[in-house]
Amino acid sequence: MINVAVLGYGTVGSGVVEVIEKNKEEISKKAGEKLNIKYILDLRDFPGDPYENKVVHDVDIILNDPEVNVICETMGGIEPAYTFSKRALTSGKSVCTSNKELVANHGPELIRLAKENNCNYLFEASVGGGIPIIRPMNYSLTAEKIDAITGILNGTTNYILSKMAAEGADFEDVLKEAQEKGYAERNPEADVEGYDACRKIAILSSLMTGKNVRYEEIYTEGITKITATDFIYAKAMGRSIKLLALSRETEGEFYAMVAPFMISVDHPLYSVNDVFNAVFVHGNMLGDSMYYGRGAGKLPTASAVVSDVVDCARHVGRTIMCFWDTESIEFTDIDQVKHRFFVRTKAEFEGKALEVFSSMEVVEADVAGEYAFVTDEMTEGEFKEKAQQLGCVLNRIRIER
Ligand code: HSE
Repeated sequence: MINVAVLGYGTVGSGVVEVIEKNKEEISKKAGEKLNIKYILDLRDFPGDPYENKVVHDVDIILNDPEVNVICETMGGIEPAYTFSKRALTSGKSVCTSNKELVANHGPELIRLAKENNCNYLFEASVGGGIPIIRPMNYSLTAEKIDAITGILNGTTNYILSKMAAEGADFEDVLKEAQEKGYAERNPEADVEGYDACRKIAILSSLMTGKNVRYEEIYTEGITKITATDFIYAKAMGRSIKLLALSRETEGEFYAMVAPFMISVDHPLYSVNDVFNAVFVHGNMLGDSMYYGRGAGKLPTASAVVSDVVDCARHVGRTIMCFWDTESIEFTDIDQVKHRFFVRTKAEFEGKALEVFSSMEVVEADVAGEYAFVTDEMTEGEFKEKAQQLGCVLNRIRIER
């Protein structure tokens, strides 16, 4: 029997208990052992809950119990999750987490600690909710040199952009509606400013490169400046606007970024809509592969946590290899990264735009008083200079093929 303790009985934590209970037969067959919820740590009491007698308020009860094999850390945030995880791993208890913030901040250290103590620190649920993406990166694509990851990694922003595209609505209105329906947080900053996607692409990039990709170094732009007018142009161009988190590694050069991009109708990520997430991975032998599904939500995320518990049950006393070094990767200067840019300026700046950019593709759309075009491929640095020379950029959005 594998004794499990759940730290944090919130949305994901209660989902973990539900998944283990509902699928107990399936899970015990696959784990080779029965999973038993021995403790649930929370500050609150849950009178009437079927698991109320498992609830404890003191983490030491869990950490000092030699019968507990696996901890599901579903608390979120850095502390006390970080301290609890370190103490659990040091005492040889495996930790399965959905906590992307903790993984992005302290992943390599916690993985090393697990290795030193013959247990595991697993984090399938930290990226893409229920989508299996960490396991493919870690086990399935091991014959590949992965050189590109392009992801839609945030459900809230994908929902907002999908609604804006379908209804021609403005960002603020859709955000308000999403908040009323409970799809977006009351404080939506982490989602709409791209910080959540930034942590997730940092984790995937670390697995892609094997080095530590510090999320603080990832160029991150959110969706707050995207307007209904941008979608009029996008439609006229046969494109959509998506918040992409991408990571590229070629010939020793590496960069990662999060920003809104215009993508064409034939891009596999074009039809990823609403709260869905997808990760598009390119390997040098396999070529393209894509992983799609529910990137958030109680049961999908809990299912991913429990899949890690099953892996722990299958590897008692053994550490599953994970290549994520403590050494930080060097980023290519973002100003050297090349893209094409969609640019909107005022109609009277047409002449100046032709003078500054010389070669461009004009975009015709039903918008009065504006001149819009797509530049040739150029570096971010070059674009910034030209945009300054132009003197009027109403908006600019990068183009992904
Ligand atoms: N706020 C996140 C999202 C939840 O919208 O995708 C999952 O990490």
